[in-house]
Amino acid sequence: MSIGLDDVIAAETVLSHVDGEAGRLIIRGHDLEELAGRVPFEDVAAMLWDGLVPGAAADPHARFGEARERAFRYLSPLARNLSGLTPVEGMRLLLSALPDADENPAYLAVGAAAVAAAMAIRGAKGLPPVAPDAAAGHAADLLRMIKGAPVDESRARGLDTYLVTVIDHGLNASTFAARVVASTDAGLLSSVVAGLCALKGPLHGGAPGPVLDMFDAIGTIDHAEGWLDAAIVRGERLMGFGHRIYRVRDPRADVLKAAAATLKGESNRIAFAEAVEQTALTVLQRRKPGRRLDTNVEFYTAILLDSLGVPREGFTPLFAAGRTAGWVAHAIEQEKAGRIIRPLSHYVGPWPAQAA
Ligand code: ACO
Repeated sequence: MSIGLDDVIAAETVLSHVDGEAGRLIIRGHDLEELAGRVPFEDVAAMLWDGLVPGAAADPHARFGEARERAFRYLSPLARNLSGLTPVEGMRLLLSALPDADENPAYLAVGAAAVAAAMAIRGAKGLPPVAPDAAAGHAADLLRMIKGAPVDESRARGLDTYLVTVIDHGLNASTFAARVVASTDAGLLSSVVAGLCALKGPLHGGAPGPVLDMFDAIGTIDHAEGWLDAAIVRGERLMGFGHRIYRVRDPRADVLKAAAATLKGESNRIAFAEAVEQTALTVLQRRKPGRRLDTNVEFYTAILLDSLGVPREGFTPLFAAGRTAGWVAHAIEQEKAGRIIRPLSHYVGPWPAQAA
C-alpha cells in the first residue's frame, strides 16, 4: 500500500520526465534550459502537442491568438460574477463555463486559461476585463490583459520564460487530477478544471503568494534565521521548499531566478531572496536532518511574478495559464490510453455485525 501514491507509476507519457536525483526536467526530449527563455511558449506548446492535437505545428502563434479572442467571447459576459472571488476562484468559475464539445478544445483551453487568469485578476479588484490582441505574443498579451496597457519586451519575455518553465512536470497532483477526469472521457475542458482545482492548494501551485508573505514577515535579513526557525518549531512548512520528487534543487528555480535577474531594478530583491534561501536551507538541514529539502519552483516564481507587477493572488492563475498546455496534452494522452483510472482503497472501517 502506498498512501500518497509515492513511487507508484500510473501512466506512460512522452511529455515530460522529472529526474529528482539529478535535478533535471526533460520536456519532450529537451532539457528545460534549452527551452525556457529561448523558445516562445506557443512553440513549446505546439511541440508538446505534436501527435496529440491535429495540426499542432501549423502556425501556433496565430492559432493561440485566435483562441484567446474566441475565449474572450465566451467569458467576457461572466466578468460581472467575479466580485468577491479570489483570482483563482474566479478563474475556476470562468473555465467551468466552457463547453467540452468544442471544435478545437485544446486551443480553446489554453486561450481561455490566459483570458480567464487576466479577467479574474482584474475582476477581484473590481476592474473590467481587457480584450485580447490576437496579433500579440501569448505572454505579452496575457500581461497586457492583466495590466490594461502594453508591456515592454523584457517583461513579456520574463512571463514567457515563466509559462514555458511550468508547462509540464510529470505526474504531479494537478496533472494526475486532469488525467483521472480525462480517463472517464469527461472531456478536455473538464479535465483542465480538475487540474486547476488541484493546483490551487498551498502544497502545490498555491505556494508562491505565501512565499512573498514570508518575505514580508521576515522583513530584514537579520530576522530571517529566527523567523524561519520559529516557523518550523511551530510545525509550519516553509513555502518554496521541499518536493515529492526532487531530492536536490528544483532546476526550475534557477531558470526563474535568472529570468528575474534580467529585469531592471531587481538585483536588491534577488539578493534578499538569496539570503533568505540560504538561511532557510541551513535551518531545514538543522531541524529536518536527513530529509533532503531544497528550493522548489515556487520560491523564485514569487520574485519573478512580483517583478512583473502581478499581484500575489494572481500567481496561481498564471501558473495554471502555463500548465494548461500540459494538462491538455496529458488529458489527450490519457484518452488515447483508453483505460479508466480506478485504484483501490484499503477498508479500515467497521464491518456489519454479522460479518464480524
Ligand atoms: N518546510 C518544512 N518542513 C518540510 C517542508 C517544508 N517546506 N517540506 C517537507 N517538510 C518536512 C515534513 O514536515 C516532513 O517532516 P517530518 O517527517 O518531520 O514530519 C518531511 O519534510 C517530509 O515531508 P513530506 O510530507 O513527506 O514531503 P512531501 O513529499 O509529501 O511534500 C511538499 C512535498 C508538499 C511540496 C512539501 O515539501 C511542502 O509542503 N512544501 C511547502 C509548500 C510548497 O512549497 N509547495 C510547492 C511545491 S512545488 C509544486 O507543487 C509546484
